[in-house]
Amino acid sequence: TKALFVVSECAPLVKTGGLADVAGALPGALAQHNVAVRVLLPGYRVVLGQIGKAKVVATYKDLFGGTAKLRACTIAGLDLLILDAPHLYDRDGAIYGDATGSDWPDNAERFAALCKVGAMIAADGVAGWTPDIVHGHDWQAGLTPEYMRGLGADVPFVFTIHNIAFHGNADARKLKSLGLDPARFTTEGFEFWGHISALKAGLVGAAKINTVSQTYAEELLTPEFGIGMDGVLRARQADLTGIVNGIDLDVWNPETDPNITPYKTAAGKGANKNALRKIFGLGKADGPLCVLVSRLTEQKGIDLLLDALPALLDRGGQLALLGSGDPKLEVALLEAAANHPNVAVKIGYDEALSHKMVAGGDAILVPSRFEPCGLTQLYGLRYGALPLVALTGGLADTVINASPAALARGVATGVQFFPINVQALANAFTRLSDLYADTKTWKSMQRNAMKQPVGWETSAAAYQAIYAGLTEAPS
Ligand code: ADP
Ligand code: GLC
Repeated sequence: TKALFVVSECAPLVKTGGLADVAGALPGALAQHNVAVRVLLPGYRVVLGQIGKAKVVATYKDLFGGTAKLRACTIAGLDLLILDAPHLYDRDGAIYGDATGSDWPDNAERFAALCKVGAMIAADGVAGWTPDIVHGHDWQAGLTPEYMRGLGADVPFVFTIHNIAFHGNADARKLKSLGLDPARFTTEGFEFWGHISALKAGLVGAAKINTVSQTYAEELLTPEFGIGMDGVLRARQADLTGIVNGIDLDVWNPETDPNITPYKTAAGKGANKNALRKIFGLGKADGPLCVLVSRLTEQKGIDLLLDALPALLDRGGQLALLGSGDPKLEVALLEAAANHPNVAVKIGYDEALSHKMVAGGDAILVPSRFEPCGLTQLYGLRYGALPLVALTGGLADTVINASPAALARGVATGVQFFPINVQALANAFTRLSDLYADTKTWKSMQRNAMKQPVGWETSAAAYQAIYAGLTEAPS
């Protein structure tokens, strides 16, 4: 099977969050199931800098206001198709917005162009290659089935929701300039409260929809989590599934990780813990050293953490946090660090440091208000940094709470809290501290955690099964 990914970020070339990790790791996992994936990715400046003079396989004379070239290359085992459209992607700043954090005003065109090219590849192929399946990720890929319809491309489209919070709305006046069919600008189509919704286009146009955990798939059907799209999703419930993300077991392997002092069992974490305390300027302490690596946004529950923190500190616990995002949260975190010797914060983005943190941390925190899947708790499991997480989305599906029943069975891997509020998080810190003080139980939880399968094997098979269901003729 030949699949075309349409996606706005892909590790290791360009990453703002977990979407990039999935786009970068799933193709390799699918290859084990005889699916050959090509990844269509925008030629941002940071990407162009990594692909050199990659071969041009197609040219588009006027792609939303400029000439564009499609370049093919292989990097880190990924078969890439880079959309080199300087008028859309070759600029200073971040991939979705400028240096001040505002979205680019032409984001509608920038990602419509990606979808249009995906659709043209589906319709006509590129240099003799035509996909059997087109697989789009998040709103940036949402318009692909609309353009495919316009071009008469008869290839099934699969749509994965990584985060429903982003709708990719565009002004209805752009219908014409985006080359969309006005007849489809309806409630049944991609109209959403008077706007063009790229996300909705993907949801209504997909043959199959999935999101990145089973619990989030169920949550999405409720108004609280569906954020306006729950009705659309309920209408498509029969075609909606949850497939949990995996992590790249080669990149995240405590036995071979070049960023850390490698270890086989949790007993080997000590050297990494000392190193981590040095990096963050933390002294010795009796309680658990908790780490957190995240974008700093409302989603991630950082404000809850700040308010619940005394429950951890009172028990001699520590916090080392790495993240960037919302300036208000950054300031509040730096303030907390200035006020408490056992709180240390680094503002920034640092891939190598994130490895040192899961290696050195006793526990990893993910107090998110919602979390489609979440990847850092999976790193924590693999590295024996026990996850303390909110009971939501993928965090509910990947962590086994240290309930009395789970402890009696000897299967617990972490701590979950619910409802998602300050009091419950504070209680969870107390439970975590109790478990940490009970060395025998803690060690057995670490063993459980490090044994838990967190790779792509099962989930890649689930994606393959979706593709097969759509491409194989019914018998
Ligand atoms: P989301 O995609 O919502 O941001 P995920 O947990 O799925 O959440 O993925 C986040 C990814 O980004 C993880 O690989 C995490 O380690 C990484 N990450 C987030 N912030 C930082 C940071 N400041 N430094 C290094 N890595 C980060
Ligand atoms: C989104 C979600 C995150 C998920 C990631 C990859 O960014 O916020 O929970 O792990 O996509 O699917």
